[in-house]
Amino acid sequence: MVTSQRNLGEFGDIGDFGIGLWRMTTPSVDEARKYIESSLDAGVRLLDNADIYGANWGGSGRGSCEEMLGKVFVADKSLRQRCVLATKGGIIPGVPYDQSSAVLRKSCEDSLRRMGVDRIDLYFIHRPDLFAHPAEVAETLMALRSEGKIAEVGVSNFTVAQYDALRSFLPFKIVASQPEYSAANLGPLRDGTFDSCMRDGVIPFAWSPLAGGRLLTGESMRPELITALDEIADRHATTRDAICYAFILSHPSRPIVLLGSQRPERIASAVNNPLRELPKIDLYKIVAASEGKKLP
Ligand SMILES: NC(=O)c1ccc[n+]([C@@H]2O[C@H](COP(=O)([O-])OP(=O)(O)OC[C@H]3O[C@@H](n4cnc5c(N)ncnc54)[C@H](OP(=O)(O)O)[C@@H]3O)[C@@H](O)[C@H]2O)c1
Repeated sequence: MVTSQRNLGEFGDIGDFGIGLWRMTTPSVDEARKYIESSLDAGVRLLDNADIYGANWGGSGRGSCEEMLGKVFVADKSLRQRCVLATKGGIIPGVPYDQSSAVLRKSCEDSLRRMGVDRIDLYFIHRPDLFAHPAEVAETLMALRSEGKIAEVGVSNFTVAQYDALRSFLPFKIVASQPEYSAANLGPLRDGTFDSCMRDGVIPFAWSPLAGGRLLTGESMRPELITALDEIADRHATTRDAICYAFILSHPSRPIVLLGSQRPERIASAVNNPLRELPKIDLYKIVAASEGKKLP
């Protein structure tokens, strides 16, 4: 039977939308707390953080988005219980990737400390270290898991071959794969990522679902893609961003949309919009407009 839920191990169905904390660079704990609380109130469960977040978007440096989340958890202890907490490690500025055992272990332990939690619910390798043996990465992940520091494992920006290699050394499932995917970036549709997710029951997490906002501003976008999205939005009596999200949610691999907006009202409107699936004629219209050519 084809499952219709995004079931993530012991956490069960984690819903259609998560929030990404990459742009949560506010220096105000109260503002960050309100953002997290209102997102959870709107029905989001999944929070997606990373040790590198805070290094840009006006943040105060690597680790600062995890530190801020830690402060939010101190300000309201109930919030930790209400969320499924994902974070990522493996990017080391200046290297740029290092997943050798001691480095990956330290990254994970630093993340735990910064967020003030005993366990990370879902730990992603952020980008593959091209010079790490997957057996060594797997061994570190197994150790962190058996020590109770991480519950589940995911990969981000991995090719299918890199995912297959890591998975072959793990005695447990990789539960999530986090590629960039949006109406403007169709890679996972054709590079095998979604196919491998469906083969193995892995949940795809779509990052930058609005292409970092450019699908709304139109910057560096094909005009025919914006025209197609707006025509479809008019027909469904909804907005362009809702069509961008429904495009992602329509894929049979059942991706989760990682919302990047820092505005609580935009999070609530995305989560509350009942449009979750587009007819194939609209999906293919978006694909053709995105690729700038008719499908054969
Ligand atoms: N694994 C990876 O390598 C990777 C890489 C990048 C991102 N990510 C994850 O994906 C998450 C989302 O990425 P993203 O921030 O690029 O997502 P996005 O949703 O594509 O872009 C969010 C940006 O679009 C803006 N925006 C403009 N108009 C909007 C509208 N009508 N509705 C909503 N947003 C609008 C937002 O501004 P406002 O805040 O003003 O609404 C925000 O700056 C990140 O937080 C992170 O968790 C992962």
